[in-house]
Amino acid sequence: MAQIIDGKAVAAFVKNREKDKVADLNNQGIKVSLAVILVGNDPASCVYVANKRKDCDELGINSIEYALPEETTMDELLALIDKLNKDKDINGILCQLPLPRHLDETQVLEAISPLKDVDAFHPENVGRIMMGKYEFLPCTPAGIMEMLSYYNIETSGKNCVVIGRSNIVGKPMAMLMLHSNSTVTICHSRTKNLKEVCNGADILISAVGKADFVTADMVKDGAVVIDVGMNRNGAGKLCGDVDFESVKEKASMITPVPGGVGPMTRAMLMCNTVTAALKQNGLK
Ligand code: GUN
Repeated sequence: MAQIIDGKAVAAFVKNREKDKVADLNNQGIKVSLAVILVGNDPASCVYVANKRKDCDELGINSIEYALPEETTMDELLALIDKLNKDKDINGILCQLPLPRHLDETQVLEAISPLKDVDAFHPENVGRIMMGKYEFLPCTPAGIMEMLSYYNIETSGKNCVVIGRSNIVGKPMAMLMLHSNSTVTICHSRTKNLKEVCNGADILISAVGKADFVTADMVKDGAVVIDVGMNRNGAGKLCGDVDFESVKEKASMITPVPGGVGPMTRAMLMCNTVTAALKQNGLK
């Protein structure tokens, strides 16, 4: 049976590390601040934003929330981002996605200063990731790399299969595994022979968004399985993409849902916020 990768424990480790950095900065008279913009009242987004506030409170980061009405215009949102970009007391800016349909997500993400872009969604930061010279990494892929490192999971020379090609997870994840010397395959909805491709994976990372998508017959004996999915099953229970019960019998290590990748995503936002503060104060 697989060893369970404890995302909560790794997240606690990362948050403690970052908390010490915040305390150091505070001792130098520097406050660390994160601005979070929420447009409308999508219930999931409200929960995510509340969790971010909790994490900031735990680490001693000042969190400033801008809850804007659903009918906020592009001009209003861009004006707020412009103000926050110029505000020396704000280190990081995050605009919670998805935005209401009438707002142009690409334009909004491009408006956030790359220096304060704690999501690493700005094209400049995306480009830096491609080149392997980055300050910020998107939180979920960065969190997975932290977990692999915490558990001393060898990546060099390994076959890594990433299922999913989103800009937020699949593509940057593949790039980070490439930088860490894995041989990387990205699979998606048009991939032929998905099962065979996945069976070649020493490290299998699923970011699909479908419950029970990864079944035991897709997993090589002894593979490391990372589940990015956050789904509800038929009974309404939170679950990942991986059929955990059967896959854990084949994998050597596996992340659970909940308690795997999720807590890491949250921890890495804190990490990026501290990095932003260090950079802006010439300390990194
Ligand atoms: N909505 C869901 N996940 C995220 C995230 O990581 N960043 C932002 N900005 N919005 C999200």
